[in-house]
Amino acid sequence: MNTPSHSTHDAQADDRNEHIKIYVNGEIVPKHEAVVSVYDSGFMLGDGMWEGMRLYDGEWAFFEEHMDRLFSSLKAVSLDIGLGPEDIRDILDRTAAANGMTDDGHCRLMITRGRKAKPFQHPGLSRFGPTIVAIVEHSKPAESLQKAGIRLASVPQVRGLPHSQDAKFNSHSKLNCVIACLQAEQAGADEALMLDPHGFVNTTNACNFFIVRRGEVWTSTGDYCMNGVTRQKVIDLCHENAMPVREKNFSLYEAYSADEAFLTGTFGAQTPVAEIDGRKIGTEAGAGPVTKRIRALYKALIAETVARQKAAR
Ligand SMILES: Cc1ncc(COP(=O)(O)O)c(C=O)c1O
Repeated sequence: MNTPSHSTHDAQADDRNEHIKIYVNGEIVPKHEAVVSVYDSGFMLGDGMWEGMRLYDGEWAFFEEHMDRLFSSLKAVSLDIGLGPEDIRDILDRTAAANGMTDDGHCRLMITRGRKAKPFQHPGLSRFGPTIVAIVEHSKPAESLQKAGIRLASVPQVRGLPHSQDAKFNSHSKLNCVIACLQAEQAGADEALMLDPHGFVNTTNACNFFIVRRGEVWTSTGDYCMNGVTRQKVIDLCHENAMPVREKNFSLYEAYSADEAFLTGTFGAQTPVAEIDGRKIGTEAGAGPVTKRIRALYKALIAETVARQKAAR
């Protein structure tokens, strides 16, 4: 049977998302009123950073790790927003509360260099302070995704070297990834499997990538991909649970003959891969045994982390 098409961010339909309230620069407004200027640095240039976070039992899972990545990125592009992680937590909490959400909420926090005085590139033209937006949607990953898995196609678009645009920037400009995704779709797949400049398998356009071979869990060295929070949690969980895990170079040759493959990201946690370039991965549809075990460990880690975060408030 053919694997049905999906995207890694497929969520169950939820009409409530048409009526959510969105945080825009200090105000929480109905979705249809949530707008930013056409002069905004994010809109004009992709000059901004974002984070995706999930709400479990009223807590933003792995909040510190997300803030660490966000504030490192902001510092690297000299974007001083005059706020700290606790101010961001307050923004997210208020937005979730305005929407009556405590669980299954997915946030896209976006911070740009703000409105520009003129429609040109120079960062100095962004004179009015940052633009901060938090969209929190009701969001449950579609169950069909776990059952069927995702189809990947390797694409010509590569992950670049860190001195062009470091893949560790979760920047508004995702054109590199969008081009890769288009190439994958044009090849009849759901998502792109991107290689590094040396031809080793690196990442997908929106998630980190793992394979399981002969009982070992492999992922790329991490040199050319997003420093995914979920990626690191999976590596740590493997170490803590005596599951052999390696961050190493490997090629499509090894990916095609993997026993299992899965993607990691905040939204979908671990999403099984069904096919790579038309080659079936694994013996049955959905997650294999190692992926299932990692999923269970990750679920327990979230529960533990959320309880700890709650107790620390
Ligand atoms: C290109 C890319 N890779 C991987 C990830 C997954 O990162 P995380 O696990 O922190 O959600 C993201 C999400 O922001 C991403 O944009």
